[in-house]
Amino acid sequence: MEVIKSTAEMQEISLRLKREGRIIGLVPTMGYLHDGHLSLIKKARRENDIVIMSNFVNPLQFGPKEDFATYPRDLDRDNKLAESAGVDYVFAPTTEEMYPQGYDTYVEVKGPITEKMCGKSRPGHFKGVTTVVLKLFLITQPDRAYFGQKDAQQAIVIRKMVTDLNVPVKIITCPIIREEDGLALSSRNTYLSSEERLQALALPRALSAGRDMIMKGETDPQKVRLHIKQILESSPGIRVDYVEVIDGDDLSDLSVIKGKVLLAAAVYVGKTRLIDNIDLML
Ligand code: PAJ
Repeated sequence: MEVIKSTAEMQEISLRLKREGRIIGLVPTMGYLHDGHLSLIKKARRENDIVIMSNFVNPLQFGPKEDFATYPRDLDRDNKLAESAGVDYVFAPTTEEMYPQGYDTYVEVKGPITEKMCGKSRPGHFKGVTTVVLKLFLITQPDRAYFGQKDAQQAIVIRKMVTDLNVPVKIITCPIIREEDGLALSSRNTYLSSEERLQALALPRALSAGRDMIMKGETDPQKVRLHIKQILESSPGIRVDYVEVIDGDDLSDLSVIKGKVLLAAAVYVGKTRLIDNIDLML
């Protein structure tokens, strides 16, 4: 496995690999790898000749009051894990390498899918994500790029960018990996105290309760949404950011629960913001 820090060198390698006819799979990450990231890498490994993993904590997608400075980082550990999961190249640029002085270009999906949920609570977040992801695509020239369903809205926003801009990359969404007790894996789980770690379980529990309600025949999205919200609001240590029961393809409102449905929520546990979701096909 090689670790590349220069954008020019990474692009040169990728363009050469493409000329040689190799199929490239990209797994974009912000590092501090866990089994969720590793599941994406392993799928990419099975489906491509070359696997590139990017490891870059992208300042553009963090708000001024968010956790860019404290976001957990451990490149050495990440490189060991990436190598054992079968990565060929880690692309780990510095901020200066990605956004040199005078950097001025941004990519933004404007419209309803970036205005609600995480887009509403984190203004500018998705603009930062689409900008870095398109840059990563141009630097690493992937045939396929792998994203987690954990960040369901992010995957939908990236699909929209790829469709709208005719980007020749196939977007693959992979299932959420959870701890045994149900908490979705996240690099941000390291922020939780042991008490908060227990309180955080209300999030997957409330979403599962919403799913159970649908499985028992409830077809009104607002009733399911309120049920999930009430469970979260009555859970100690939890502050609700949003709860949505919406169309799983384009995040639009549903009048009735049918087809692809997404139950999604964001909460604060202490100072830590956690997101989770369940997607259903009915
Ligand atoms: P990061 O949070 O490091 O996540 C990298 C990828 O891993 C994302 O596609 C995310 O959805 C996926 N992932 C995270 N937790 C997961 C879990 N429990 N199960 C399955 N997949 C999981 O998302 C980002 O980084 C950034 O926004 C990025 C796309 C790299 C752009 O900066």
